[in-house]
Amino acid sequence: MLRNSQVAHREIDQSQRSTAATLLMCPPDHFDVTYQINPWMDLQTWHDQRSTWRERAMAEWQSLKTTYERLGHRVLTIDPAHGQPDMVFMANCATVLDSKAVMAHFRHPERQGEEPFYRHRYHQLKEAGVIADMAFLPAGMAFEGCGDALWDSHRGLLWVGYSKRTAQEAPALVGQALNVPVAPLEMVADRFYHLDVALMPLSGGEVVYLPSAFNAEGLARIHSHVPEALRIEASDEDADVFAVNLVNLGRDIVMSGASEALLERLQSAGYRLHIVETPAFQLAGGSIYCLTQRLDLSWKA
Ligand code: ARG
Repeated sequence: MLRNSQVAHREIDQSQRSTAATLLMCPPDHFDVTYQINPWMDLQTWHDQRSTWRERAMAEWQSLKTTYERLGHRVLTIDPAHGQPDMVFMANCATVLDSKAVMAHFRHPERQGEEPFYRHRYHQLKEAGVIADMAFLPAGMAFEGCGDALWDSHRGLLWVGYSKRTAQEAPALVGQALNVPVAPLEMVADRFYHLDVALMPLSGGEVVYLPSAFNAEGLARIHSHVPEALRIEASDEDADVFAVNLVNLGRDIVMSGASEALLERLQSAGYRLHIVETPAFQLAGGSIYCLTQRLDLSWKA
């Protein structure tokens, strides 16, 4: 029997490190649950023990950052801003490919205040040569960055979720801005409001996904791109712990947990699993992938 805790403490074999990635994270100094824009956001549970949860969030975030660094990756940060409780979810700020960042515009006014801080930080990253360019969709068009736009390096394909957050017109425009093919997927379940909680492409070509997050057309699209042997269906048990919201770096997978079936499937596909539990962030509807923005992906890699 394989347990999350056993996976978590497995030693990292330094000789098997993947190529170093550049990641952007936002410390959770101002992380809070003060509004509800997705069904996971649990104000009651959070506020019953707010100071405990805030401490836990800090510890979970540190443990995630340390895990990336132990795996040999570079973690850059952005200064957290007062009054922006969800800013910690950096996946949403943009989608970057081949050094070009398509910047986000949030659907909900509650998160739109984060946008100037992201623009400022990306300007700095441009000056520092970490990214080359920034692009913006037409004014007012909702696009929630890597929450909804996931690069599939195996297929050279950008999976883009729309409807709950990202506007229906956005996937084609993001594809044009990055000059890549796009597979649009309509998000049909309130619980799975962003694509990154429902589908994740892996480096070996496998795609982990929650069938109940998609309609028949979406499932047909997934099936048309991913042969059956590479489809990994996640279960309700996996959904409850945000298992799909994982970060895959080469053969390493950093995730908050999963059912034994999914842990075993990923391990037998040759992935090394690193568990960082994220209960505090789950009370805002986010986990590992949501907390992370990757800056160095490129079509060729
Ligand atoms: N409370 C945030 C929101 O609803 C959570 C975002 C999680 N991020 C993600 N990439 N799924 O926008």
